[in-house]
Amino acid sequence: MAKYVIQGGKRLSGEVKISGAKNAAVGILAASIMTDEDVLIENIPDVWDINVMLDAIQVLGAKVSRIGRNTVKINSKDANVTELSDSKLGKMRATYYFVGALLAKHHKSKVIFPGGCNIGARPINLHLKGFSALGAKAYEKEGYIITEADNLKGANIYLDIVSVGATINIMLAAVLSQGLTIIENAAKEPHVVDIANFLNSMGANIKGAGTDIIKIKGVKKLHGTNYSVIPDQIEAGTYMALATITKGDITIKNIIPKHLESISAKLLDCGNQVIAYDEALRVIGSDDILPTTIKTMPYPGFPTDMQPQFACTLSLAVGKSKIEESIFENRFKYVEEIKKMGAVISIEGSTLIIEGVKHLEGKKIIAPDLRAGAGLVLASLAANGESEIDKIEFVERGYEDFVNKLKELGANIKKVDC
Ligand code: UD1
Repeated sequence: MAKYVIQGGKRLSGEVKISGAKNAAVGILAASIMTDEDVLIENIPDVWDINVMLDAIQVLGAKVSRIGRNTVKINSKDANVTELSDSKLGKMRATYYFVGALLAKHHKSKVIFPGGCNIGARPINLHLKGFSALGAKAYEKEGYIITEADNLKGANIYLDIVSVGATINIMLAAVLSQGLTIIENAAKEPHVVDIANFLNSMGANIKGAGTDIIKIKGVKKLHGTNYSVIPDQIEAGTYMALATITKGDITIKNIIPKHLESISAKLLDCGNQVIAYDEALRVIGSDDILPTTIKTMPYPGFPTDMQPQFACTLSLAVGKSKIEESIFENRFKYVEEIKKMGAVISIEGSTLIIEGVKHLEGKKIIAPDLRAGAGLVLASLAANGESEIDKIEFVERGYEDFVNKLKELGANIKKVDC
């Protein structure tokens, strides 16, 4: 167990290089077991979730060779196991992608029910609905997601709610089925597109990823590939918010600026300068953070995964901001923590009302989940005095080299064992 000790109050500046997208990499790793040939994946972030996925791939019987910190080679020729039951897997969300991948390749799977950040109910009914439409039996039983099928046949599947996880999982299951699958009201997030591109590079036939209608023509077999994961939209957005909250000047490199448009738009509202380059963005924080109104939405809307970082930032704005959370019902657990630091925030249903204050004070606080933890790190870096953030294992699930990258920008942060 470790905690962060942070001395806040410095303007942070410099350059930061963004790692590969965790939420794309987890899907790509699960998909890699669907071929018997070698798959080489580059730009994998070295974070807890990814390492758990790699362990699981080995449990399935595949050979995993780590070639450097961010590159991995996987061969699943001898991977015949279809059950995953390690309780570690139940602590993260993306292990449910093994359900779609195993169902596609072996026509059956038994995977421990996923956990992940405690930000609301997070049901998987749409995943199960999709697998059933493809002809599988798919159900939850005694803490497991179970699927089995004689044959998988293409189907038309309409998602009642835009779900990233269900879109990706159904795509995985449909790739090796017979005939055409059409997913309507599909999620359009950059990582949905990245996983589709990865599958296409293995010989899948997926069209329309990135729009709300995805068409998948089943193929008989997938082959090996070399692939590089896209940059992490949320990690990049977090450093953009950092430039704002510390009134600093940060150039965020190795990114796709298009993926960050909704975040850039809000930072402009807050009075920042945002300068776009081909693969970088420079955010120059304003001395006065202007208040704004935000509603989280599926992509290309403002991401729910950036909601806590922005709420923490707007707690130092010169006026009243509002943030409506429209994706998850319980994503405000950090509010009690930042209030200890002097923030004035009230919760009205699914909306935060944030009355900006002049200063936050360093305090002992707890990271309740991954993105909220990142938001509290930002708040601590902007606050006067020392903060201690406990339960940072949540934060380290998703941010590669967080402490070092922050130090490079001038932050006074250290990780200490407790
Ligand atoms: C993914 C991301 C997570 C992000 C979220 C929304 C990964 C590993 N995680 O989570 O970081 O916050 O997208 O961008 O990529 N829903 C149902 N039934 C289902 C599935 C979802 O009702 O079967 C609901 C959820 O409760 C939620 C909404 O749909 O209200 C969106 O959830 P979804 O997009 O599926 O989120 P995840 O894929 O779990």
